[in-house]
Amino acid sequence: MTKLAVFASGSGSNFQVIAEQFPVAFLFSDKPEAYVLERAKNLGVTHYSFELKDFANKETYEEALVQLLDQHQIDLVILAGYMKIIGPTLLAAYEGKIINIHPAYLPEFPGAHGIEDAWKAGVKESGVTVHWVDSGVDTGQIIKQVRVPRLPEDTLETFEERIHQAEYQLYPEVIAELVKRF
Ligand code: GAR
Repeated sequence: MTKLAVFASGSGSNFQVIAEQFPVAFLFSDKPEAYVLERAKNLGVTHYSFELKDFANKETYEEALVQLLDQHQIDLVILAGYMKIIGPTLLAAYEGKIINIHPAYLPEFPGAHGIEDAWKAGVKESGVTVHWVDSGVDTGQIIKQVRVPRLPEDTLETFEERIHQAEYQLYPEVIAELVKRF
């Protein structure tokens, strides 16, 4: 069976959708106060949390992550709102096994504010992308993406909600495909 780990920094709504459909070996959050940890507790998913600032540098922080991933023999690392760039230490150990979801139609609007950036640019449509993680910011090979329209009556909130709904469809679809490969 493919062993999955999810990394998240925030609310964890994507984590919730994933954990309700697939067995997740563990959830990691780099934010000890993040609501995603509550979700993991409620779902009975093993969870860990530590912060970059608890370590001497990003290398030793990522070494701790690699140790966790190795210990659980993880096949696929699923980034779901994990708001840190994956550094060379983690990539060296797990490149080709890390995927990310981005709330825009890459290469349009990369970075931390994909939804707001698309909204401010006044696009008629944006989207959602799942991609492999490489050393760039949202530059890895695209696995699958979908378009999401911006409707004339949309507010930022309704637009954002439609993007999230598309994420909740797309990420499980991609994960279901990938778990067949391991
Ligand atoms: C999601 O919309 C995800 O695409 C985004 O963070 C949100 C996390 O929400 N990720 C990025 O912007 C990465 N650049 P969630 O914590 O409720 O799943």
